[in-house]
Amino acid sequence: MKPISAILRPCFGLVLMSVLLLPQVGKAVEVETADDIQFYTLKNANGMTVRITNYGAIIMSIVVPDREGNMADIALGYNDIASYTNAVDKPYFGAVVGRYGNRIAKGKFTIDDQEYSLAINNPPNSLHGGIIGFDKVIWNGSVDDETNAVTLSYLAKDGEEGYPGNLNCSVTYRLTDENAIEIDYLATTDKATPINLTQHTYFNLKGEGEGTILGHELMINARRFTPVDETLIPTGKTPAVQGTPFDFTTAKPIGRDIAAENEQLKFGGGYDHNWVLDKGGQTGEMTLAATVYEPKTGRVLEVSTTEPGLQFYCGNFLDGRLTGKSGKSYVHRGGFCLETQHYPDSPNQPNFPSTILKPDDEYATKTIFKFSTR
Ligand code: BGC
Repeated sequence: MKPISAILRPCFGLVLMSVLLLPQVGKAVEVETADDIQFYTLKNANGMTVRITNYGAIIMSIVVPDREGNMADIALGYNDIASYTNAVDKPYFGAVVGRYGNRIAKGKFTIDDQEYSLAINNPPNSLHGGIIGFDKVIWNGSVDDETNAVTLSYLAKDGEEGYPGNLNCSVTYRLTDENAIEIDYLATTDKATPINLTQHTYFNLKGEGEGTILGHELMINARRFTPVDETLIPTGKTPAVQGTPFDFTTAKPIGRDIAAENEQLKFGGGYDHNWVLDKGGQTGEMTLAATVYEPKTGRVLEVSTTEPGLQFYCGNFLDGRLTGKSGKSYVHRGGFCLETQHYPDSPNQPNFPSTILKPDDEYATKTIFKFSTR
């Protein structure tokens, strides 16, 4: 029998070679595994980092500089998976939501004369893909050091959570040296199905756990929105935002009009609505959706997307019960989400852009979260 050192020597040579062959340190995607779950850290030339896990395709942290160069984590969430799964409330921190992000009225829709029923997990409606949506499943991960990207793939089975068709989908997160996170969603199906994938990161540009987001200045590139009924299902109308608290066409603090006497704000408990993005006639093209500026730190977030809608949700259901990764509690309106997507309840709204993916078609959307300072 060969001594162990003789077996190890060629292995050591191979390991050394592969280490030498690794791309530039600092560029390579760092991968850790714990209890079958992977954690990926993307880094760029400016020291910005994004930590991602294959559980729920969750973005666990986004560390970016302020105008003085001080780094802070501006994404709400936790350091470990148990905290995501055991939390008393699960507000989809950082996750990809699907198969259908947002609400489907009464959990019912019809395709080709066949009615489908989904779990009512947000009475009386279905929300964010059901009881075990894409935020609570384990995705398959692979890294591409060349492009500084992680791709997570998931096969949702025919009938899973009541949806038709085997849906093969993936999300790729890529971090650029321009401090942008580029997100590409792809999917194909073998039966016609609704699909609406989005990213549910809660941002607080002051830093996670640093109080409310009411002082952040928000611009939404939209002159219309989709008002809702008391259960947050769109009425089907798309009125102008002009002259209402929903007008963010010029940047204003999120908190400026949030307490106005307004039925829509009452229904949402604040902003929890979909805006109809101004695409300038360029359906499916990448256009600016929103810009957020935080005056104290100077941090800026720009959101661009190929999607036609943007759900702006300002953390109305956070109430201080959840304690985040650095031990600070997540207060009411302690984070906001800018969820690029199709409009809520599209499968039941004939006048909204279609969310039905057919076999032989490919679902392909892209969203970019770009950070800078002012
Ligand atoms: C919805 C909110 C919901 C939240 C769950 C958002 O996308 O618009 O109504 O409460 O997700 O955390």
